[in-house]
Amino acid sequence: MLEFSVKSGAPEKQRSSCLIVGVFEARKLSDAALTIDEVSEGHLGAITRRGDMEGELGDTLLIHGVPHIQAERVLLVGLGKERDFDLPALIKATTAAVKALHYRGTTECVSHLTELDIKGVEFEQIIRQSVLAIDAAVYRFDQLKSTPEPSPRRPLRKVTFITPSRRGLLDAEASVREAMAISSGIHLTKNLANLPPNLCTPTTLADHARKLTETHPALTVEVLDQSRMEALGMNALLAVAKGSIEPPKLIVMEHMGGNADDAPIVLVGKGVTFDSGGISLKPGLDMDQMKYDMAGAAAVIGLISIVAELRLPINVVGIVPSVENMPDGKAMKPGDIIKSMSGQTIEVLNTDAEGRLILCDALTYAKRFKPELVIDMATLTGACVIALGRVPSGLFSNHKSLAQELIKAGEASADRVWELPLWDDYQPLLKSNFADMANIGGREGGALTAAAFLSRFTKDYRWAHLDIAGTAWQTGENKGATGRPVALIAEFLLKRANKASSPA
Ligand code: BES
Ligand code: MN
Ligand code: ZN
Repeated sequence: MLEFSVKSGAPEKQRSSCLIVGVFEARKLSDAALTIDEVSEGHLGAITRRGDMEGELGDTLLIHGVPHIQAERVLLVGLGKERDFDLPALIKATTAAVKALHYRGTTECVSHLTELDIKGVEFEQIIRQSVLAIDAAVYRFDQLKSTPEPSPRRPLRKVTFITPSRRGLLDAEASVREAMAISSGIHLTKNLANLPPNLCTPTTLADHARKLTETHPALTVEVLDQSRMEALGMNALLAVAKGSIEPPKLIVMEHMGGNADDAPIVLVGKGVTFDSGGISLKPGLDMDQMKYDMAGAAAVIGLISIVAELRLPINVVGIVPSVENMPDGKAMKPGDIIKSMSGQTIEVLNTDAEGRLILCDALTYAKRFKPELVIDMATLTGACVIALGRVPSGLFSNHKSLAQELIKAGEASADRVWELPLWDDYQPLLKSNFADMANIGGREGGALTAAAFLSRFTKDYRWAHLDIAGTAWQTGENKGATGRPVALIAEFLLKRANKASSPA
């Protein structure tokens, strides 16, 4: 985690080891770059004219020896076409800038990219997205490598953002603090999700949640063990846990920052610390990625840390059902019929559709908090990845305006969702001849039948379901947790908190 600050001022006056300024396509200097060009008697213009920097989005060029300025060097960053410059472009340019500096011995820099205007985007968002992009650009999970590599000898530690002079510096400082809290929550989420499944079990996940109360004493964390869950009748959750020697946990985190009688927002996160598929065993290829099947849980824990850190004046409850899904002599079998906490019976036709089994009991448990609304986040279906790829998370909701609010928050935070239907037409696919429902609905519309299944347990409150199977982690060369949908839900909660704190 880096240190961030804000100030206003002219680019040529910044004493820094590196000044970051933007160039639009084609070779059009931003205001800060133009100022540097003027005081340096055309130094930057000469470089762009020679064709070293066209301004293509994400291109970088480090320049030494720019005359008449206080900074030791200047990093030019391509911003793309000026009329296309938006939040994703700012994020891309900022990421590229930081990556260019991180391994170059620059421990501190001053960025003028935050000065750029983006139509319809508040300055607060520019600061927030810049902080998140920079922390993400330098993030690595190397706690389990004996020698972290490549090890930047003198890594980037501090970034100063220049604010357009007309904006209040105080507001900007508040935005930075807010952004840093969100960023540290995302950091926690990524670290938890990236942990290997031998080190991240339901028990250790619960320990991580409990640890939050050390830094945030106002937070309460309660962990329900197997016997408590048996007493509550959470047989769907417990059925999944049966095949593993790891005991299941239900982690309940409460941040009561609002009035005691305000109905809370309840966040539920799927916490399968490893999903082998169970007796309906998954194929071997890429099975290691099923350590990420607790990414929803990691997101809820990260979000609770954010609301606690920011002391948001709202009530938020996090519920994490956590199990390991393994095959064993004691494991649940295809054909088993179990009675969920809601009383509804479920025929397990595929033990690999385990997420909905643990979620349905957690969603029933959520009722006891008399929630204002419930949002669950879950790496629920491979079908959602097929439908939407890895760009938006899948959104389902039984409440139109809640869905709209989440779509908006997704756009504002560059952590987008795409709504998929939660229509009754899908319900018959879950028909079972022997129980109230089956746990799978066949090959077609797999993300939709999974959501349809969950909707049978969420009739008593406003509810949204996020299928984050395609967005919670990246595959390939950049394999690793993304921290999504923490930025999205943090945005959603902050908006709600602002409404709560401003008089109606
Ligand atoms: N955790 C998986 C979903 C998943 C698969 C997420 C691949 C990301 C990548 C979930 O528990 C699962 O196995 N779902 C099955 C459901 C099927 C058996 C109806 C799936 O998607 O194949
Ligand atoms: Mn599964
Ligand atoms: Zn799963």
